[in-house]
Amino acid sequence: MNGPLRLGIAGVGTVGAGVIQMLERSSAAMAQWQIPEIRISAVCARDRAKKRDVDISAFEWFDDPIELAKDDKIDVFVELIGGEDGAAKEAVETALKCGKHVVTANKALLAHHAVELASIAEEKNVALNFEAAIAGGIPIVKTMRESLLGNRITRVYGILNGTCNYILTRMQAEEREFADVLREAQEAGYAEADPAFDIGGHDTAHKLALLTTLAFGTVTSFDSIYLEGIERISSADIEAADELGYRIKLLGVALATESGIEQRVHPTMVEKHSAIAEVDGVTNCVAVDGDFVGDVMLVGMGAGAGPTASSVISDIVDIARGIILPPLIRPVAALLPIKRARMRAHAGGYYIRLSVADRPGSFAAIAGRMAEQNISLKSIVQRPPAGEISRRPGNRPTDKPMPVVMITHDTTEAAIQKAFALIEQDGHVQEPPQMIRIEKL
Ligand code: NAP
Ligand code: HSE
Repeated sequence: MNGPLRLGIAGVGTVGAGVIQMLERSSAAMAQWQIPEIRISAVCARDRAKKRDVDISAFEWFDDPIELAKDDKIDVFVELIGGEDGAAKEAVETALKCGKHVVTANKALLAHHAVELASIAEEKNVALNFEAAIAGGIPIVKTMRESLLGNRITRVYGILNGTCNYILTRMQAEEREFADVLREAQEAGYAEADPAFDIGGHDTAHKLALLTTLAFGTVTSFDSIYLEGIERISSADIEAADELGYRIKLLGVALATESGIEQRVHPTMVEKHSAIAEVDGVTNCVAVDGDFVGDVMLVGMGAGAGPTASSVISDIVDIARGIILPPLIRPVAALLPIKRARMRAHAGGYYIRLSVADRPGSFAAIAGRMAEQNISLKSIVQRPPAGEISRRPGNRPTDKPMPVVMITHDTTEAAIQKAFALIEQDGHVQEPPQMIRIEKL
């Protein structure tokens, strides 16, 4: 490469501003380390007049990211706009087709279009780097692309969304309300433009779709992921989990099973003393089980300007050094079709919370329905709300709802769903059952 590596940065929000700041701060050190010069040529955002955290007056301004993607004065198009389709997709496609390298933090885009975009990159022999798209500052793409090659991976899982982990941690530690903590995560720049993507588990699923491709060499398939968010997690669940020796985390898990690849995102109970239970706040972790290496876990900041910029810069430096690798580890032509394991076949333990009518026989009927499905209970606790027992006249049944919490031994999702349908049909519960899967780690 003759001359500096010229960047066009599209998106000067939380991450874009972080990238500009980090480049300014580190360029002298990089020169000492003989990394070819990296220079920002142009930037693009929606509103030129907007007050920003960084001074962008020295860079050429573009209103339209597609025009920036085509511009002859850039070598690398850095996409930090976001969104599955629209301007981000069109601009990335344009940049690749024009033979420019692309660095992006956009997991929504890649979860849906990774294969298509990687084939253009391969055809044009340019980079499509996306370290920042999975778990913010954690270098998991590089680890899987370079350090773990040669291993047969059996499972990849992790806490992949900083916003959800921040909310669950604060709810647990400070008994705070959901909405209140979400606002805090938004103010800190962790949440997506639409935080429903965080809370509903979609953001975790975007990252899991990519991890599955990197781990198992299968085509990226967002639609094959079983998805549940944290919306239904209440303080009652967090409290009960704590008493039973667990923490609740939103996990993304991809697992090779005999019937295919199980990809799932859902709130999960993990043992309180496991390493993952201690990953708190905006911190993420990604764990990979490989046949030769064993279990590897990387922990670090999963969101925010600094950690995300750190990953974007590492992708840019690779390009400056001339390191261009197939984006999805194996060439697109060598990717395998995905065989989806059915969620009904999922096996494991379950936490169940029922709101049971306080009347004779309801408990026995519920236990009977569980037994019919061969579900064995490890523990069962009736948890009357504080003060409820002393308020009952003569301590008689009240027919009011009474929370009952159970932990099962290993069973299947199909058995649990069948038992729930029968229990609801019997009329002993007064709200839809709450169920949280327990993950063995
Ligand atoms: P953000 O703060 O909302 O910034 C988005 C930027 O894109 C803004 O500068 C905005 O312009 C610009 N933009 C939006 N639509 C545009 C359009 N049509 N044309 C030109 N510019 C447009 O978002 P962010 O948090 O930095 O996230 C950027 C990307 O990084 C997303 O893909 C996100 O998922 C990913 N990511 C974020 C984090 C994080 O912690 N925030 C972590 C990892 C990955 P204006 O400034 O003029 O409004
Ligand atoms: N909204 C995402 C999160 C940003 O909270 O993890 C990082 O991908």
